[in-house]
Amino acid sequence: MSERAQFATKMGVIAASVGSAVGLGNIWRFPYEAGMHGGGAFIAIYILCVLFLGIPVIIAEFIIGRSTHQNANSAIRTLAPGSKFRYVSYIGICSSIMILSFYSVVAGWIAEYMFQSLLGGLNGHSTQDYAKTFNALAGSPWRSILWTYLFLGANFLIIRKGIQKGIEKISNFMMPVLFLLLIIFCINSLLLPNAKEGLKFMFMPDFSQVSPSMVVGAMGQAFFSLSLGLTCLLTYASYFNNKTPLVKSATIIAVLDTCVAVLAGVIIFPAVFSFGAEPAAGPKLVFEILPGIFGQMPGGYFWSLAFFILLFFASITSTISMSEIFITFCTEEHKMSRKKATRLNTLIAMVLGTLCALSFNLLDDFKIFGKTIFDLFDYVSSNILLPAGGFILAVFVGWVMDKKIVKEQLTNSGELNVRTMKPIIFCIRYVAPAAIVLIFLYVTGLF
Ligand code: TRP
Repeated sequence: MSERAQFATKMGVIAASVGSAVGLGNIWRFPYEAGMHGGGAFIAIYILCVLFLGIPVIIAEFIIGRSTHQNANSAIRTLAPGSKFRYVSYIGICSSIMILSFYSVVAGWIAEYMFQSLLGGLNGHSTQDYAKTFNALAGSPWRSILWTYLFLGANFLIIRKGIQKGIEKISNFMMPVLFLLLIIFCINSLLLPNAKEGLKFMFMPDFSQVSPSMVVGAMGQAFFSLSLGLTCLLTYASYFNNKTPLVKSATIIAVLDTCVAVLAGVIIFPAVFSFGAEPAAGPKLVFEILPGIFGQMPGGYFWSLAFFILLFFASITSTISMSEIFITFCTEEHKMSRKKATRLNTLIAMVLGTLCALSFNLLDDFKIFGKTIFDLFDYVSSNILLPAGGFILAVFVGWVMDKKIVKEQLTNSGELNVRTMKPIIFCIRYVAPAAIVLIFLYVTGLF
């Protein structure tokens, strides 16, 4: 294990983890989930989930990964020989493949929007026209599949180069630029007529709307957006060096990720109300609203092109991190070559991605539990598998792992004075596991 790569700089650590966290989850999924669940109350619960479930579980993943410098399966075997907890890595592998499959479809749409922006096709139309633009894309089996494959191909090429070169360089440069662009769009949206309605929708919670599906949706969104529960950050932390401050890094990642999601909301919702659109439009929401926003900005061609290019890269840094779970598992547990593991990962995602892409056209009537394959993959992985994985990891760190190692990891063997250590350990041991179980009981109607 000693020759495993390590992140070269402290910036590299944070940038790569933020690169994993920030992606379509913030800019596509967060606004549409918030829109479907009535806005403010969802966002309030979401933020609570980030604070009391998200940050503790990030830290739990970091502790396991960094203390062993190994992948999830062998890390847990090292820390607790013979323990069944290592099976959490299989949840991680299944859900990472499921997420990669539907994520690539959405990222493929982003890629096509990038291409259309380049050709000038996303400029100067009305909101209704953009709804048609999106329906034509998602409704066409061959276009959706083609762009899904192109995206997976790009992902494949980047991963084959190995972790350090690929990930670090790209995310170091792209993330700050994306952030800047989002702030500009935010200001633009706030100046739209009727912007106040959008802000009210986001920031005036109506708690009478709280429902089991909203709470489980907010929890799932928090796990999804923070890349949690499927040992993705655990795998990244296995590349951290012993100086990386875990608590501080986890907090920075959670805060930045939440800022990006809230910024995306402040870009989308004022525009939704200003254009007279429907906030509960679902997965197509941002694809219909964003081009309309760029259209009314001076220099819209440039903004739309820049935005879709950056979002494309934000998606790729996320899919790289998802792919890394499967690949690390194959190469380190099954001694497969990195090339072969990368190919296998891409191939499986292509097959399942095809089914997800077809869920908006040929297979849109094919439903399991009332959901299309795309929706089912999304729901099962985000709302069930990720929180279940998070539960197992938190219980493992809180109850099974040697307390001395946990404290050593939190303080870097006593070098750091972490004043929040007690509350963090309390959250990992009690708050996060209990909240996840209660939310599951709430949604199944048992509580
Ligand atoms: N967090 C990413 C996003 O918001 C998606 C993602 C990357 C992810 N890696 C993950 C989600 C691991 C769950 C688990 O777009």
